Amino acid sequence: CGIVGIVGKQQAENVLLQGLERLEYRGYDSAGIFVADRTSSHLVKAQGRIQNLADKLTPEVTGTIGIGHTRWATHGKPSEVNAHPHTSASGRLVLVHNGVIENFDDLHQTYLANDVLKGQTDTEIVVHLIETLMIQEQLSTKEAFKKALSLIQGSYAFALVDVKDPTVIYVAKNKSPLLIGIGDGFNVVCSDAMAMIDQTHEFLEIADGEMVIVTNDSVTIYDAAGRGIQRESYQAQLDLSDIEKGTYPYYMLKEIDEQPAVMRRLVQEYRQADGEIHIDSALVSELAASDRVYIVACGTSSHAGWAAKRFFEELTQIPVEIHLSSEFGYNLPLISKKPFFIYLSQSGETADSRQVLVKTNELDYPALTITNVAGSTLSREADHTLLLYAGPEIAVASTKAYTAQIAVMALLATAVGRTKGLAKATNFPVFQELGIVASAMESIISEKSHFSDLTAEYLTATRNAFYIGRGNDYYVSMEAALKLKEISYIQAEGFAAGELKHGTIALIEEGTPVIGIITDEVTGSHTRGNLKEVESRGAKTLVIASEALAKVGDQILLPQVHPYLTSLLAVLPTQLLAYYATLQRGYDVDKPRNLAKSVTVE
Ligand code: G6P
Repeated sequence: CGIVGIVGKQQAENVLLQGLERLEYRGYDSAGIFVADRTSSHLVKAQGRIQNLADKLTPEVTGTIGIGHTRWATHGKPSEVNAHPHTSASGRLVLVHNGVIENFDDLHQTYLANDVLKGQTDTEIVVHLIETLMIQEQLSTKEAFKKALSLIQGSYAFALVDVKDPTVIYVAKNKSPLLIGIGDGFNVVCSDAMAMIDQTHEFLEIADGEMVIVTNDSVTIYDAAGRGIQRESYQAQLDLSDIEKGTYPYYMLKEIDEQPAVMRRLVQEYRQADGEIHIDSALVSELAASDRVYIVACGTSSHAGWAAKRFFEELTQIPVEIHLSSEFGYNLPLISKKPFFIYLSQSGETADSRQVLVKTNELDYPALTITNVAGSTLSREADHTLLLYAGPEIAVASTKAYTAQIAVMALLATAVGRTKGLAKATNFPVFQELGIVASAMESIISEKSHFSDLTAEYLTATRNAFYIGRGNDYYVSMEAALKLKEISYIQAEGFAAGELKHGTIALIEEGTPVIGIITDEVTGSHTRGNLKEVESRGAKTLVIASEALAKVGDQILLPQVHPYLTSLLAVLPTQLLAYYATLQRGYDVDKPRNLAKSVTVE
């Protein structure tokens, strides 16, 4: 979910609406805004996209203070009644929330009447709780808010307005992201600096457990004990142009196209004047001394972990395990004597990954976060951070963050291997090889119409599809299938090519598309054999192969790159196939149903 708020500016509604549009990647099941001034107040909510909300805003919906919300449903289905902001029984308090209140049932039973709730959200309980505390215990809004925070268990970012005093936004956070932006004569609140970057570049972080009182000319931070805290603001390194689509029809296509530039930027950012790799030596030596690397991640980021596993092991001679955050946190496997944890997260905010980091921090295990967002929660809470320098990724389906993660892992593994004096790492010219990848990516991207035609022929009309490969090509297959299913809704599976015949081949019917990825010399001919097996059972096969391994009739050829880095290239055609399949099937490429880009609940 995404939160915005502003106090001290005429026509707050426009700023809120634009902010919500920029936060739509965090969820788009429903949205709402509340605006007020001394004489009037307005609450408008709509199910579905922000545009539905915009369509409902009549000219009289205006104010000098306001809060807004875009939702990714957790408790309660997407509907107007469950959309935020939520109001208290008297209508005096208005609240938006991101997170999950774990003890909402207890709070309801202890403090609230049975019939007070209109919808099914946990948030509604909080706004009623605050008002109940004001009435029953004669507390001011601030005192009641503070007391409510002490009673709540769970994750939250809150912004609260009291209609009786439309000059203050009450803010608090615990485990869910929230920032304060400092303006000239006004101040803002937002889940992500991106939402308000046209209003200000100056931001203040809030720590878990803190409460903040925001007016047009002041920001007062209190810790959990109620003591005032001074904090320096920082300048957000973000340009409006980074977050605009420009001439592209969709962010996803823009982000696919940006991948060669991201590779070159990584070379720039990580290359020292002496040609060595610029990564903190404390991080490199800590990693070099470890006996096992645990990569913890979700979704596409976990696939980037898989794509990095083999070269990481070869270059560092340290075994690597990949774990899904949502599984790992509650089922800790036996951990080695000197583990090192790497958290891969584009957003740096994924709650599933964060809960594991909290745990490994408690156990005092060293941790590194590799993320696209400087200052994100996972970055702040790990011992070390490496940045992806990919620029904001806005399309829900991740593309450039995946390739940037693999590239940063290659840089890190090379640095660690060199520190250990390993010949493979010393002899691996990582910067040069990433440069070759960048040029090879460009040549694939320049053939978009080819991919559009292939998609129409193989994928657009299908119900299901398979990607198969072995080794690294299998790992890319998992990502390729995820990309296809998450945006085009074609049921897709990424499969180890050799394993298909042990069961899943039963699903192959006349015309089922099976896409084989072949970049590995040793296993390529076996994968070809597996493609033949499915062809003879009716499958329509399509081959993505490295030039050196290509055979007559292969539809997609990949320029030759270093064997460690083939995933960086093989994934590109699969991103384009998913993109065109979605376009041709008539769906919204950037905002697939049911998903959100940054999931800040477990
Ligand atoms: C969400 C997104 C996925 C993403 C995953 C992990 O589910 O829809 O595209 O891969 O979160 O996100 P992270 O920001 O941690 O990489």
